Amino acid sequence: MRKPSARCFLALASILSLGLNAASAGPAQIDVWPARPAATPDPALEAKVEKLLAGLTLKQKIGQMTQAEIQTITPAEVREYAIGSVLNGGGSWPGKKRMAAVEDWRHLSKEFQQAALAATPGIGLIWGIDAVHGNNNVHGATLFPHHIGLGATHDAALVRDMGRATATAVRAAGIQWVFAPTLAVVQDVRWGRTYEGYGADPALVKLMGQAEIEGMQEGLGEGRGVIATAKHFVGDGGTTHGVDQGLTRVSFAELAKVHGVGYYGALDAKVQTVMASFNSWQDSGSVDGEGKMHGSELMLTEVLKKRLGFDGLVISDWDGVGQVPGCKNDDCPQAINAGVDMIMLSKDWKSFIKNTLRAVEDGRIPKARVDDAVRRILRVKLRAGLASTDGVMPPDVKRLFAPALDLQKAQQNDATVALARRAVRESLVLLKSRPGLLPLARGSRVLVIGSAADSMAKQAGGWSKTWLGDDNTNADFPQGQTALAALRAALGADQVVFDADAKSKDANGFDAVIAVIGEKPYAEGAGDIKGRQSLRHSLRYPDDLAVLERAKAWGKPVVTLLFSGRPLYVNDLAARSDAFIAAWLPGTEGAGLADMLIMPASGKPNRFTGRLSFPWPATPCQFATNGKDAWWPVGAGLAGDEKDAWPSPADVADPAGGCLN
Ligand code: BGC
Ligand code: BGC
Repeated sequence: MRKPSARCFLALASILSLGLNAASAGPAQIDVWPARPAATPDPALEAKVEKLLAGLTLKQKIGQMTQAEIQTITPAEVREYAIGSVLNGGGSWPGKKRMAAVEDWRHLSKEFQQAALAATPGIGLIWGIDAVHGNNNVHGATLFPHHIGLGATHDAALVRDMGRATATAVRAAGIQWVFAPTLAVVQDVRWGRTYEGYGADPALVKLMGQAEIEGMQEGLGEGRGVIATAKHFVGDGGTTHGVDQGLTRVSFAELAKVHGVGYYGALDAKVQTVMASFNSWQDSGSVDGEGKMHGSELMLTEVLKKRLGFDGLVISDWDGVGQVPGCKNDDCPQAINAGVDMIMLSKDWKSFIKNTLRAVEDGRIPKARVDDAVRRILRVKLRAGLASTDGVMPPDVKRLFAPALDLQKAQQNDATVALARRAVRESLVLLKSRPGLLPLARGSRVLVIGSAADSMAKQAGGWSKTWLGDDNTNADFPQGQTALAALRAALGADQVVFDADAKSKDANGFDAVIAVIGEKPYAEGAGDIKGRQSLRHSLRYPDDLAVLERAKAWGKPVVTLLFSGRPLYVNDLAARSDAFIAAWLPGTEGAGLADMLIMPASGKPNRFTGRLSFPWPATPCQFATNGKDAWWPVGAGLAGDEKDAWPSPADVADPAGGCLN
């Protein structure tokens, strides 16, 4: 039995959990999920939905359910196939131009909108983008710290402001829909998407996710705001060994109590879309389970839509339907029947339309299911001002054609830069320090070392300009400054010397050494720490250690900043540092780093307020985020004005043969 119906599954799971594993969390009862009353339907809105739906042919309905990648579709094809949505994947820009100007994005968006309105009068198109730390795909946009750093700020108001600023930047580019926030509750930091999550605590994920959605969707339908996405539903952060797109094996109750929690906040914030997750789920108390989330009627329909009362649309992840057993990327009635309303396709959208039409015609997809999906899509579009029933251009499409404000300024402006810079300051977690060392005096002469000190690629991480972020250069981000550039700006260029590999003979004449090291950029599965690799794997070993070793021998205070998308094993690095700072992936505003390291002009030092949102490992193979035996627990972090030094952690070698799973 592969994919039981929801009811049959519930019954089966109860039998199995009794018979097979009495110690497990018990039968998979839907009531482990908190019942949320569906919002009372707005009769005027629903009447408009029905009116628009009644005007659509089956082919147009399936067009509404189709989301095509912008490199694979032209505006003429949007018109011909009555396409409802497009997306640009990570590193996909209009005309494939890496440096495409905001005007280019907006221009393409207008072409798509005109085409959509010509095909389906009154119904505009929605374009989705991964603006996951600011409008990160668009050249010249201010990049905020990734979620992991924002989690360390514990500052929900800041995250709400970021959501608002991101919405402004995204709207200026002509885009209406953001695939964020990720609400993963990460259980194993080997997962390459750890940094997309706010932390290991479900309550923190809920708080921050809700704030981000509120900020992004503020003013939706009234000329501000974008549609947000709660992703990836559900259990993405719980896969065994942290394998991306893997199997999450927990009880139904734990799925609800840990991985589901962010969604309760998202629904409170009236999130309009939810993205299905690539992972599978299997009840830890049974031998069966729902398998891939994209094919799970239990999760998408029974839990999310019915039990949690979600009335927006479910979007599938990038070709995710193709992973459902028996499906192909362009042919998956199972996913649609399970509750996916709109299908994200990397390329095969034409054959998807053909196959889906056939499946509806021969009854494999009920017509009522198609209507439900399209109702949800139209409801979201109406709420966002992207559809109208009175024959005029929908209000938010009209705004797109109105004379444009300063588009570049919406990407980067004083207020947004100041906000991102503040986010950097608040996100830094001081894990080790020596009394009186920080901040360094304004007149200090500083020797800067380390492979990440002048690397915007490492400072921004994945989902920055490109998907993996690994081919970025500093020229990709003319809008910000690296740690090195920021230190030069703060201290004066003459006071700062850069020696990446610490090849200098000594540090005579310098007051301090600032070392900046970091992980190579990555995204998704490409960033997984795999097999027997330890939590040192993603750093440059032994080079990074050797750099710090040499610096230590100079006898000057060494302040180390670590750029990373997860907590790593760093005891050896910290032992060779007088101060050690987890800086996460801070984004473009390096000035926020300098603000914390160097005495501000005001003469009033900034105290470190960032606190860990993940436990920090004491040994090279400590992957779990349950905090057991952590070196620095969740909540750890110094202010910088402590009287005593934080002791150096002990150095532990990788076990012979590597880490066991
Ligand atoms: C990711 C999503 C993302 C989508 C579109 C997928 O591979 O899992 O988080 O929104 O691509 O870029
Ligand atoms: C795309 C991403 C997508 C990923 C999924 C990449 O090529 O740019 O947006 O998330 O593929 O595998």
